Amino acid sequence: MRLQHAAAALIAAGCAFAANDAAAQGTLNLYCSVQVEWCQAIATNFQRDTGIRVNMTQRGSGESLAAIRAEGQNPRADVWFGGTGDPHLAAAEENLTQAYESPNNAQLQPWALRQWEQSGRRAIGVYAGAVGFGYNTELLQRKGIEPPRCWSDLTDPRFRGEIQVANPNSSGTAYVIIATLVQLMGEDQAFDYMRRLHPNINSYARSGTGPIKAVARGETGISLSFVHDAVTERNAGFPVSYTTPCEGTGYEIGSMSILRGARNLTQARRFYDWALTAPAQRLGFEAGGQLQTPSNRSAPLPPNAPDLSQIRLIEYDFAKYGRAAERRRLIERWDREVGSLPR
Ligand code: F6P
Repeated sequence: MRLQHAAAALIAAGCAFAANDAAAQGTLNLYCSVQVEWCQAIATNFQRDTGIRVNMTQRGSGESLAAIRAEGQNPRADVWFGGTGDPHLAAAEENLTQAYESPNNAQLQPWALRQWEQSGRRAIGVYAGAVGFGYNTELLQRKGIEPPRCWSDLTDPRFRGEIQVANPNSSGTAYVIIATLVQLMGEDQAFDYMRRLHPNINSYARSGTGPIKAVARGETGISLSFVHDAVTERNAGFPVSYTTPCEGTGYEIGSMSILRGARNLTQARRFYDWALTAPAQRLGFEAGGQLQTPSNRSAPLPPNAPDLSQIRLIEYDFAKYGRAAERRRLIERWDREVGSLPR
């Protein structure tokens, strides 16, 4: 009995010590725009590795940018991790984030550093991934529908009500898709294409991964998604496959930024350095089942992850489509000419 008391006292003392230690190391407020499993894994592992307590909020790329804009000079977050690169570039241009040079930059792929240079050293690439078509193999087979191979296939009446994509106001994925179509076709033709595609779209989801999850559950036959997210669903046991468009496709440089006016700057920089290391980047796959291409050159491409060198990628103009005014203008045009069309 006495021994039990002693043990309990020791555990209590240990907890108090851990709590003091955490208090001494401080806190990090993190906005996270990758899938929640990965967000939770980075929060838990960073906290364990450093003793810094992490308060994490997960939401889409467009939603995070909106929150960061609304908070302006009084940011709630210290670091914004992940999400498509264009809104990070817009945040940099609007002076909502701050420049930082990590000693770990030397370990990164050239495309990750290009993002950093283009953003005035305010946003850095943490992963990359390409846009494609996810589909439910069983559902399409049952309905006798051939999966799409090209952008031009998608407007075919055989796909009526069968396709899902996200809404660009909340989702960075959806914005990358619009910017891709504009770069492939020219702006007016791309909007004409999206209007013709509209009858085949059953819903504009809030999050970029919503449509591929709907494919996995058999609620829709096809999604416009990042193809790494299709493999995540297949690995989870769902009848999901993907193709990449024959005309070429766009891609994201998933990014990370430190907010201007971050209250916990030391912790923010510590997190930023940590998130660029190979072990932290392996967590996306190991703990979160995520299959993007990591930006650290020593972090291996996860097994079965889409190999970007095998996909026909366009020369995505990040400088142009990451500009705040361009992003706003294209999303407003989409609201006016596509999103508001009747069904
Ligand atoms: O986490 C999966 C993912 O597809 C990322 O690769 C991407 O940056 C993010 O989701 C985009 O999410 P959303 O479209 O909801 O902003």
